[in-house]
Amino acid sequence: TQQTPFTLVLFGATGDLARRRLLPSLFALFRDGRLPAQWQLVGVGRSERTSEEWESGLVEALREEKPDLEGWQDDWAAFAGHLAYFQGDASAAGDMQQLATLVQHERCLYYLSTRADLYGSVTRALASAGLVGPRASIVMEKPIGLDLESARAIDDVVSEHFAESQIYRIDHYLGKETVQNLLVLRFANSIFESQWNHRYIDHIQITIAESGSVAGRAAFYDEVGALRDMVQNHLLQLLCMTAMEPPHALTADAVRDEKVKVLKSLRPLDNNVIPEKIVRGQYQRAGDEPGYLADIGAEDSDTETFAALKVEVDNWRWAGVPFYLRTGKRLAERACEIAVHFRPVPHSIFTQQHRAAMANRLVFRLQPDEGIHLSLSEKQPGAGMNIKMSELSLNPETLAGKRVPDAYERLLGDVLADNQTLFVRRDELMAAWEWIDPIIQHWRHSGVRPEPYQAGSWGPSAATLLLARDGRLWDELAGGVYGQWT
Ligand code: BG6
Repeated sequence: TQQTPFTLVLFGATGDLARRRLLPSLFALFRDGRLPAQWQLVGVGRSERTSEEWESGLVEALREEKPDLEGWQDDWAAFAGHLAYFQGDASAAGDMQQLATLVQHERCLYYLSTRADLYGSVTRALASAGLVGPRASIVMEKPIGLDLESARAIDDVVSEHFAESQIYRIDHYLGKETVQNLLVLRFANSIFESQWNHRYIDHIQITIAESGSVAGRAAFYDEVGALRDMVQNHLLQLLCMTAMEPPHALTADAVRDEKVKVLKSLRPLDNNVIPEKIVRGQYQRAGDEPGYLADIGAEDSDTETFAALKVEVDNWRWAGVPFYLRTGKRLAERACEIAVHFRPVPHSIFTQQHRAAMANRLVFRLQPDEGIHLSLSEKQPGAGMNIKMSELSLNPETLAGKRVPDAYERLLGDVLADNQTLFVRRDELMAAWEWIDPIIQHWRHSGVRPEPYQAGSWGPSAATLLLARDGRLWDELAGGVYGQWT
């Protein structure tokens, strides 16, 4: 438990993220006894409503998001006693001065869950209202900016008023249990680290597939698209956690130093290679399922709802090992995995089995069920020497015998504990944008449109080709190790 009383000011309090993820996570921390006795949450929004109205919207979202939550009604009353809604314009100094009169504690956390182009003006308004003291921290949701230049401009303003140690750039994928388990698996076991390189690994696939559409967030999404919404942050962060060298300690800077090195080793992209290495797609109507344009209510849009990338990491460990990344909306299922494909044995003495079919695979499954699965070849019992693939699995839910906390619970707890390990440092953010920026520029200037794919499929055929050209297949096409993919 953090004992220091705090005030959390939440900008974008009526937004989707606040209602569906942040408030339920804070409530979970509260129920677990992880908040101090004294704290307050001020939700800031532009629309007019009373604290009671805001709160009843939160209850409604909680019921929808956590239908199985038990016995929460009694705790909610106590929790809600800490909440208040403030109607105002977060970028207006006058409104922030009024907000200042509500703030009860010196330890202040400002959570920005609004459009990123407001981050600069909100920061300035907070500063001019005298709200940025030495005990203040700022939490920023991704994507910070729309390209390298705008990201730098936003971050510059924020950094003028907050020291780096006060800035928490959140990427909630880092708060997922399996991502932290990846660190433990890699750096607390000796057997994997010795294999974790180009000598033993053939390639790595990282997939964040979503079955949901963009309905409800049309305006935001159409401006942003999959590359900025998922690749620049979540996918690159997963790549960093998978590829980084062992940090010398589990401190915020040691871990982030190693992630920056990975980002700096990504082979730069130019206009010649972008068309062959980066696939861009947009879902289309399939049967009764509406397409993207119908979902956003527009006549035309060249925003991508799918991206697949071949990424090369030019360093000693990973030379020649491609990382295939992909993400998309309205795909066949919701599944998120990091799949490490090991090389096959150099020579097979089992003539019945193709070498490649016996290759091991280590899968970090983040969604929908968290866990780690290692596929191994074993003998089928009985006569002959027939081989089948089996798997060893770790499942945090059964290990702990309790629920796996939401990523936001973990990360909000870390902000309260002043722990920046799972947050993105400025140089890291910039390195990620530097690598992504040529893709944005290329798409902007070449006029290339996204390739259509059917809603409910696995994306455009160009994504299949991306691997096929290298003689490889995405996991779901190869037949997965376990149930969900097959
Ligand atoms: C968010 C994106 O960062 O992550 C959303 O803005 C996406 O578009 C979401 O749906 C996915 O998060 P999770 O935790 O549900 O996989």
